[in-house]
Amino acid sequence: MAGKPKGDGDAAILLVDDEPYVLAALKRTLRNTSCEIHTASSGEEGLDTLERVGVQVVISDHRMAGMDGVTFLRRVKEKWPDVQRVMLTGQASAGAIERAVNQSEVFRFLNKPWNEAQLIATVNESLNHYRLIVSNRRFEAELAERNRELVESNCDLEQKVQERTRALVQAEKMAALGRMAGGVAHEINNPLGGILAFTQLLLRDGPADDPQTREALDTIQTCALRCRDIADNLLSFARKPAEEHLEISVNQVATDALVLARLHPRSKEVDVREELAPDLPPVLGQASLLQQVVINLLQNAYQASAPGQAVFLRTYQSGEKVFLEVEDAGQGISESIRAQIFEPFFTTKEVGEGTGLGLFICYGIAREHGGDLKVESEEGRGSRFIFELPKAPVISEKE
Ligand SMILES: Nc1ncnc2c1ncn2[C@@H]1O[C@H](COP(=O)(O)OP(=O)(O)OP(=O)(O)O)[C@@H](O)[C@H]1O
Ligand SMILES: [Mg+2]
Repeated sequence: MAGKPKGDGDAAILLVDDEPYVLAALKRTLRNTSCEIHTASSGEEGLDTLERVGVQVVISDHRMAGMDGVTFLRRVKEKWPDVQRVMLTGQASAGAIERAVNQSEVFRFLNKPWNEAQLIATVNESLNHYRLIVSNRRFEAELAERNRELVESNCDLEQKVQERTRALVQAEKMAALGRMAGGVAHEINNPLGGILAFTQLLLRDGPADDPQTREALDTIQTCALRCRDIADNLLSFARKPAEEHLEISVNQVATDALVLARLHPRSKEVDVREELAPDLPPVLGQASLLQQVVINLLQNAYQASAPGQAVFLRTYQSGEKVFLEVEDAGQGISESIRAQIFEPFFTTKEVGEGTGLGLFICYGIAREHGGDLKVESEEGRGSRFIFELPKAPVISEKE
């Protein structure tokens, strides 16, 4: 009983000897173990058997007709390296043992005639050694897998930190640009007022009969008015909102903006499609500012689209946020300028067609409302601007 190999009944042994009575005696000794026992009368037959059945331990005679024990065990080692090899020796010389160790890496030697207890102990140790090797390998594989996961999640984490940092730097940069633009606009507003006032004075009281002078004064006035529009835009952005934020329906903002955006000359050429989610929760904000964002986004989409192309105006909710999307199938935005489009005065449009303030103002309004404005775009395929806002907190009614 004491000699039973531990554990699973699926332990199997191959005994190889060219003497049938040795095989029979070995079998008898191992009868009381729970091992499945296979036998072979030559090295060649032993290799055949191993092809067919799986064993954990091979016990082989040293000197056999045909393939000798060292060669047989070496083949076993090459093909099934985990299988534990035990050599049975008669009066093997030291040289033969050395050869067996070096070439076949045998795990144990057993002398003929063997001691039964020792044979059983050797089988047990060989089986345990086999299990150890297999479980070690499994452990190593698991370790490698965990390591890989760890490296991956580390990379993920680093990427997330980088993205957050980039977003923070971008937000800070935009805020600084906003302050600067507001300051410049403020400084320019006074002298601009002077230019406009004196131009208008000259137009009224000046040498009105000289057409060339009149035309020049008209041009000065047009340009100055345009400058004032720009300055007003910047100032409206830089100024802190005076109004308090109220609960607002984003769908209402979207439909109102759509009506106003119809004034844009390109609006009739595009096919605007509304996909407004019903039951959208309200957001907190100023309707006029939110409208301004949607109008700007729609105008950009109209300008980027070819006649007949569709522009989608979508609203939906996801988690704690409400989203408004303007998607066009127009020219798209190249990778190289995508980081700049939210900066003030960045425009790719003709002089007079765009000031490059639209998205800058939209972005500022989004941040001011605790939201964000993002873009996804592919050159030649279109763009999608995603305006996200936190939904208004639900205030529980208290008596
Ligand atoms: N839907 C869009 N498709 C392609 N490019 C766009 C789109 N929206 C914005 N852009 C690019 O971003 C730039 C900046 O846009 P932004 O709205 O800030 O300024 P603008 O439209 O050029 O001028 P403004 O809005 O002040 O009249 C645009 O010039 C354009 O290159
Ligand atoms: Mg614009």
